[in-house]
Amino acid sequence: MSAVLKIVQAGDPVLRQRARPLSVDELRSPRIQTLIELMRDTMRDAPGVGLAAPQIGEPIQLVVIEDASERQVNLTPEQRAERGREVIPFHVLANPELTVVDPSPVDFFEGCLSVRDRVMIVPRAAAVRVTGLGPDGQPVEIDATGWYARILQHELDHLAGTLCIDRMDPRTFMSVELHQRYWSRMSPATVLAALAALGTHGEV
Ligand code: CO
Repeated sequence: MSAVLKIVQAGDPVLRQRARPLSVDELRSPRIQTLIELMRDTMRDAPGVGLAAPQIGEPIQLVVIEDASERQVNLTPEQRAERGREVIPFHVLANPELTVVDPSPVDFFEGCLSVRDRVMIVPRAAAVRVTGLGPDGQPVEIDATGWYARILQHELDHLAGTLCIDRMDPRTFMSVELHQRYWSRMSPATVLAALAALGTHGEV
């Protein structure tokens, strides 16, 4: 059986709460195990590469992530390489904690299923380490760079009530349609320079 949950949008208070951690017993409970399956199906249906429990209205520290090859078919090999985009199998993280390993900022457009039909350039740390629990309550440890590091930072932000729009370069906020029409073939550096060159960013 497959079912899809409603994804709440920016403005819903649940997206601005700090999510609570799960006990191992609760994590292993039928309710949470079923919720994990529903979150997986909802993420795949959207489609997206990550989903945090607050996005389906549950203020608990639980995220699902999967960057399947089907999600990457619209990228050229060069685009996949510059993003450090690799196939990431489906997995679950509960009570995750993130440590920045390399804070060097990396700029790319990203989006969020709770900020529908919009994308924006968000600087993210180049490398992170995440510790937490798997769906069975066993400890997990992840070292990530590239797009996977971006996904982890984005999803773990959700558990702290933070959205990508809080971290974006605000001049790059735009519709998916207009991103495709005008900006998607430029590098992020070129986009940022082009928007700055319009003359109203910083010193005129
Ligand atoms: Co999001």
